Amino acid sequence: MDDVMMVTDDRQATQLIALLGADLVLVGEAVRPYCRDWHGDVQSDAVAVLRPRNTAEVQACVTAAASLGLAVVPQGGNTGLVLGATPDSPASQVVVSLERMTRIRSLDADNFSTVVEAGAVLETIKERVAEAGLFFPLSLGAQGSCRIGGNVSTNAGGINVLRYGMTREMVLGLEVVLPDGRLFDGLSKLRKDNRGIDLKQMFIGAEGTLGIITAVSLKLLPVPEQVATALVGLAGLEDVIALYRRARRECCDLMSAFEFMPPLAIDLAREAMPDLPIPLEATYPAYALIEITGSGLVDVADLMQRFLESAFERGLALDGVIAQSTTQARNLWAIREGMNLGQAQRGRHMRTDISVPLSRLADFVAEAEATVTAQMPGCICVSYGHVGDGNVHLNVLPDYTLGPEQEEPQILKAKKIVNAVLDRYDGSISAEHGIGRLKKDDFEARLPAIHRQLLLSIKQALDPRAMMNPGCQIDRP
Ligand code: FAD
Ligand code: LAC
Ligand code: ZN
Repeated sequence: MDDVMMVTDDRQATQLIALLGADLVLVGEAVRPYCRDWHGDVQSDAVAVLRPRNTAEVQACVTAAASLGLAVVPQGGNTGLVLGATPDSPASQVVVSLERMTRIRSLDADNFSTVVEAGAVLETIKERVAEAGLFFPLSLGAQGSCRIGGNVSTNAGGINVLRYGMTREMVLGLEVVLPDGRLFDGLSKLRKDNRGIDLKQMFIGAEGTLGIITAVSLKLLPVPEQVATALVGLAGLEDVIALYRRARRECCDLMSAFEFMPPLAIDLAREAMPDLPIPLEATYPAYALIEITGSGLVDVADLMQRFLESAFERGLALDGVIAQSTTQARNLWAIREGMNLGQAQRGRHMRTDISVPLSRLADFVAEAEATVTAQMPGCICVSYGHVGDGNVHLNVLPDYTLGPEQEEPQILKAKKIVNAVLDRYDGSISAEHGIGRLKKDDFEARLPAIHRQLLLSIKQALDPRAMMNPGCQIDRP
């Protein structure tokens, strides 16, 4: 998507201020940072940014926008990677940012649950519940900036899905402002509740197309008392997957993360963080970053040690290191997290968020990378991710020597090649990031007619004026 020029209408901004008060409304230059995506690939604009402080003000914002015929783009931390939170029609859209709604409304340790406002930053929630000896398992590289309403709206995945599931599994209830300003109060704390269709599920993964989530009731767990983290060097992705299968059995349910990285990950992380220590001296064709967590009588350090010993004996692991301290563990994770920043620093690039059945993952990556390399010799493939979930981020760095004007065409070509291979593997173009505006066309092109009809029926029932995040996920017929 190209940058959009500033063409906003000052009169509408003035009317919004008159309806809502100046404290809730940002206009002019102040709007610009909210209209830029995390990578800085797109800079757009909007009539205004509305910043409500509570649920009643969200209702007022939605009603005011509707009264002026403006569409609403909800925004949390704006770390989404598919342009769902950035407006694309500056003269007819407002951003509603949840950034001022950050309260932990309640923390019920006896019920292992908490109710938080949608703008609470994920990391803050994790820290606050940890103070009460509780654990919220959702973990992702953007957790210092993403907000829980955004996590729920994208049904975020991250590094712990193989043990705890996607965000959906962690949500007990939701409070949502509907497009007509009514409030859906579904802030349940119940773990089991089978009273018919579970309405909250509609809003999870809806990317702000059906309403604005204002609060979330979350499931918590006891904090794991022990953590063992290891980085292992292997001969290739096939061996990584073979090791994962063994870990599934030998570490029973205690494995909490199993990530795959190529050797380029280390260069990329070092580019972003030059002082980052790399504990393995030699370079290996593939790496697995493994985490086992547990509590009570289990000894997870011993389990990790024995698991890796057996991996060496089988010839699967070529080298490996187990973190001996929290700092060492954090440094291992910094390689995985830093590689995203390293890619961003290199410049514009093609990002994917793919899943295929685990049994076909190694073949898919080999075929897709080989096809890209054959047809685009100057490009570099970077495949990494949540291998245990069959989820790979197969990214392509364009040949930057061809000049900036050739970057976008290369990105489009690489996307076409990878998606064509993916379609033969019955995979998904979005394992965890969602559809947003970036993947809308690819999503719609693969959408069976009956799925489309059902999605449009839901949209029509909840948002007949199509004022919630138009252009995101799906267009109307
Ligand atoms: P935003 O980007 O603000 O919004 C995302 C979507 O949700 C938009 O469509 C927006 O309109 C909608 N939305 C936001 N808040 C609300 C609300 N309150 N009500 C209704 N709709 C709303 N994602 C993963 O799944 N797994 C990862 O491992 C992962 N790693 C990442 C690492 C990095 C470095 C970065 C930059 C991103 C990563 N992401 C990952 C993507 C992103 O962090 C997630 O999608 C996250 O859930 C988005 O949260 P946010 O608050 O930033 O949402
Ligand atoms: C990650 C993001 C890109 O896994 O989803 O790092
Ligand atoms: Zn990911």
